[in-house]
Amino acid sequence: MPLSAVILAAGKGKRMRSSLPKVMHTLAGKTLLAHVYHTACLLSCDEIHIVYGHEGDQVREAHGTFNARWVRQERQLGTGHAVLQVIDSIPATHLVIVLYGDVPLITGETLNALAEAAGDSGFSLLTAVLEDPAGYGRIVRDEAGNILRIVEQKDADEQEKLLCEVNTGMMAVRADLMKKWLGMLTDDNAQKEYLLTDIVGFAVTEGIDVRTVSPASVMEIKGVNDRAQLAELERHYQHLQARELMGKGTTLADPARFDLRGSLQAGEDVFIDVNVVIEGEVSIGNQVSIAPNCVIRDTRIGDGANILANCVIDNADIGARNRIGPFARIRPGSNLDEDVHIGNFVEIKQSEIGKGSKANHLSYIGDSEVGERVNVGAGTITCNYDGVEKHRTIIGDDVFIGSNTELIAPLKINDGATIAAGATISKDVEAGSLAMSKREAKVVKDWKRGRTK
Ligand code: UD1
Ligand code: CA
Repeated sequence: MPLSAVILAAGKGKRMRSSLPKVMHTLAGKTLLAHVYHTACLLSCDEIHIVYGHEGDQVREAHGTFNARWVRQERQLGTGHAVLQVIDSIPATHLVIVLYGDVPLITGETLNALAEAAGDSGFSLLTAVLEDPAGYGRIVRDEAGNILRIVEQKDADEQEKLLCEVNTGMMAVRADLMKKWLGMLTDDNAQKEYLLTDIVGFAVTEGIDVRTVSPASVMEIKGVNDRAQLAELERHYQHLQARELMGKGTTLADPARFDLRGSLQAGEDVFIDVNVVIEGEVSIGNQVSIAPNCVIRDTRIGDGANILANCVIDNADIGARNRIGPFARIRPGSNLDEDVHIGNFVEIKQSEIGKGSKANHLSYIGDSEVGERVNVGAGTITCNYDGVEKHRTIIGDDVFIGSNTELIAPLKINDGATIAAGATISKDVEAGSLAMSKREAKVVKDWKRGRTK
């Protein structure tokens, strides 16, 4: 049966106490809605419909790349009312899969099983048995175990509240049946809403066999209603990612203190110490070690590199056997060739650093091309910005730059040149020459320092 997915994402999410719509909150760096959308994409649906609210324009804008049909639900009159907004544009022969924008960890496998279970009867429901079912709609069954109906927490009596099998909200229903039953909904319930769950009772009345499917893990069906639940799902998700990474041969000093907000490709024998945050798309070669408290975003790190503690590396290419940090900041557009050493309190921006070059202490290298085997002394600054424009600094091979040097761009320092410590260089330096701008220290003999009274 062809599939159409409907993602409900119009709710306000009051309990988040946020100016941001709930589905815009992120889990592992990706919005809740994006998690659900990407899972829906695994189902080979003909179409994905997203129901969004009248305050949800930013939701739609933030997810502009989605290949989905966006449908506005002007007033949030309930989950049944939400599906009603799209049902007319779904062909009668389709199976409608209802997903929730705030239930991010549902998997493709579970949804495929759900779609399959709907096969002959045209109706399947995802349910789960929870130790603490509070807040969820309960599944009411007859003695033979057949589903009778769903009762919402707010409508449940004391006996029904003891039921531990809950409605996850996710279901697969043939579109023609769905359409008929949606038309029969009323808001005659505690929440005064058109509840999608009421269609289960209608199906049962018509003698339809409502099949149930359970997820592999209850975490798949947990919704985010407040920030504590968001944090719980985040930890669970991080734990899954950490497990997968370790399975592929990466050592994590503590999987509970590892955060991946994106994707990571890691080679063999990679060691990642505690509190490392990986964002975007990162690839790491073999035998790489990353010390505590590093943030690494959209970066490639070559074999044998050693990233020391407290580094921030963003959109960079770190060559094989580099030694970076501690306390280094590598900014976007930085390409470091093999065997480069970047030490503490060094910032590199939009620069090429050649093989074997070193900047070990307290420097800023921006908009520069640095050759091979260059030594950049402590406190070297490329003065790349004149207040209006950025200028480039070109440094040849085997250049030696003494400490506390200002290189005023645009500037070219040719191969083998030496810059004396404390120099301010604003003109190009010829290959093999020495450049200095020394002010000799003036010495006053027998100087008496002032005394504090
Ligand atoms: C729903 C189910 C409940 C189930 C629970 C599981 C119904 C009536 N109840 O309850 O049985 O146990 O999920 O998490 O379906 N939404 C809209 N438009 C609306 C109302 C809601 O798009 O008018 C969206 C919300 O953004 C949210 C989802 O539907 O993503 C669920 O709505 P919510 O109000 O959170 O339902 P629950 O009370 O959690
Ligand atoms: Ca909910």
